[in-house]
Amino acid sequence: MLIHSATQLLTLAGGPQRGSQLGSLGILEGGAVLIRDGRIAEVGPTAELRAAYRAEPALDASGRVVMPGFIDPHTHLVWAGDRAAEFELRRQGKTYLEILAGGGGILSTVRATRAASPEELLAQTRARAAAMLRFGTTTAEAKTGYGLETTAELAQLEALLRLDEEGPLEVVPTFLGAHAIAPEYAGNPQGYTGLICAEMLPAVRAWWQQHASGRPLPFVDVFCETGAFSLEQSRAILTTARALGFPLKIHADEFDNLGGAGLAAELGAVSADHLVKTSPDEIRALARSETAAVALPCTPFGLAEAHYTPAQAFLAEGGLLAIATDLNPGTAWCESMQFAIALACRYLRLTPAQAIAAATINAAAALGLQARLGSLEPGKQADLLILSVPDYRHLGYRFGGNLVERVIKRGEVVV
Ligand code: NIG
Ligand code: FE
Repeated sequence: MLIHSATQLLTLAGGPQRGSQLGSLGILEGGAVLIRDGRIAEVGPTAELRAAYRAEPALDASGRVVMPGFIDPHTHLVWAGDRAAEFELRRQGKTYLEILAGGGGILSTVRATRAASPEELLAQTRARAAAMLRFGTTTAEAKTGYGLETTAELAQLEALLRLDEEGPLEVVPTFLGAHAIAPEYAGNPQGYTGLICAEMLPAVRAWWQQHASGRPLPFVDVFCETGAFSLEQSRAILTTARALGFPLKIHADEFDNLGGAGLAAELGAVSADHLVKTSPDEIRALARSETAAVALPCTPFGLAEAHYTPAQAFLAEGGLLAIATDLNPGTAWCESMQFAIALACRYLRLTPAQAIAAATINAAAALGLQARLGSLEPGKQADLLILSVPDYRHLGYRFGGNLVERVIKRGEVVV
């Protein structure tokens, strides 16, 4: 396949973009991409590629932007039911953590998810995956965390693997058994932490070796937060996971600062996510570490909170910043990375170019997948978008709609 005559071809070439380097799009005006066997074979000026190759099909992208598919590095894709009634309660003045402490919130989605049959769970999840794809997300990280017991968590992991096999959305799984204290352990977070370490993590590893051998182990994530897991409980879970060979992620500083960002850097987590209440000192330490920061601007927006990740301070210290939707039924039911970009441009004060890099090559880095995904360079997987607009700055500037005209996954037009 040859995609040619792009008004702007955004290559995002050159690897993840730290600090002040963020926002180099590698724009080729009148550019073309040659795709062979699901991979990018060549990128260059249209005249050169058309002279050298007679490719079928040839897609004319004149008047359009061609760019890498979005990578959404933080979602809670797999759940059943909804929390529309809680949204109304929050608008009437109840807070998110109050609702969780009262047995609602995450725990209400746990009840609905446990009660759903595997087919129902998959069907509801599949609809969201399809919406993500239409909005241009070609790869998404997706967490368990609405099971909170070994079998229910494994069922969610299985749903995620099934979804990935079905495609075309590529799913990168994360085990988040430590999303909330399981109802069976109400008032006993230490007991549930012990269960995760002694039973769940070894069970996930054994299950994985049996059902997904050959694939890298999933990430292990913890919700380090008041009302969820303390810093010491988070440390116990993450160090146990690391000893079992799992790569790590963490939800840190969404509502309260418990020190999760420092823990992520200390343990070499691939990313620390949310980072709304992180102190300036911790932002500096994280920026200087190998751990990526994943900002989730849909979440404060969804909660109508005024505070967002201090992205500018993090970039000033040279950090690796990515953005994600946090797609979940509680705080941010949003399948669109285009909307996350629009919010990032306003509340993280990113330029459109910075937000696009944070949603592609840096988002790939937040999953450790930057060698295969996130840019249009020879050898990389051919995951790309054709936008209906001639200028990349329409991303961020426009919001609430969908600028994606075609989605190409592994070299196939899928939307
Ligand atoms: O990232 N904070 C924890 N997890 C999600 C919310 C999940 C839910 O409310 O169901 C988040 O915001
Ligand atoms: Fe989350």
